[in-house]
Amino acid sequence: MQKPIFLIGMMGSGKSSVGERLAKDLHLPFFDVDTIIEINKGVSVSTIFETEGELAFRMYEANFIDQLSAEPQIISCGGGLPCAPQMMEKLLNKGLVIFLSAPSAVLLERLKGENNRPLLKTAKDFEALYLERRPIYAKAHFQVDASPNLDRVVENCLEIIKSRLS
Ligand code: S3P
Repeated sequence: MQKPIFLIGMMGSGKSSVGERLAKDLHLPFFDVDTIIEINKGVSVSTIFETEGELAFRMYEANFIDQLSAEPQIISCGGGLPCAPQMMEKLLNKGLVIFLSAPSAVLLERLKGENNRPLLKTAKDFEALYLERRPIYAKAHFQVDASPNLDRVVENCLEIIKSRLS
């Protein structure tokens, strides 16, 4: 794959864990957009939401994607990144986009006890957000079921990526 691979999907879909494993297997660099923003700003995503607001955070995400090189690399995108105006189109033009999809019940179970995600409130809010985002995520080049265990999800992603190489 001679271009970036973007992993998208809701919180809890495993983008970071899957991304790290893919990067290892494919000997590619791995970047988690949330982590890069946190390192650059010196504060957590939650603090950015609290002090500067969501719009500022979306701008940092957009800047990261705009400045990204065309080199092959694995990028784990925050859940809302593809949903800001023009962002999904940018991802689709810049690289291969894989949507890690799973039912909200599965995602919510994984996110139990997490308190570092500003947009994770009630189950009802989460479902509403997923419903709103799903049509955008669905524009991805590929959709992979993120419900099985990590090994299986990684295997399925690798199959897709390798099929694109041949
Ligand atoms: C967000 C998801 C988070 C992070 C921020 C906003 C969202 O990333 O970017 O809290 O809008 O869904 P993860 O999807 O990696 O949890």
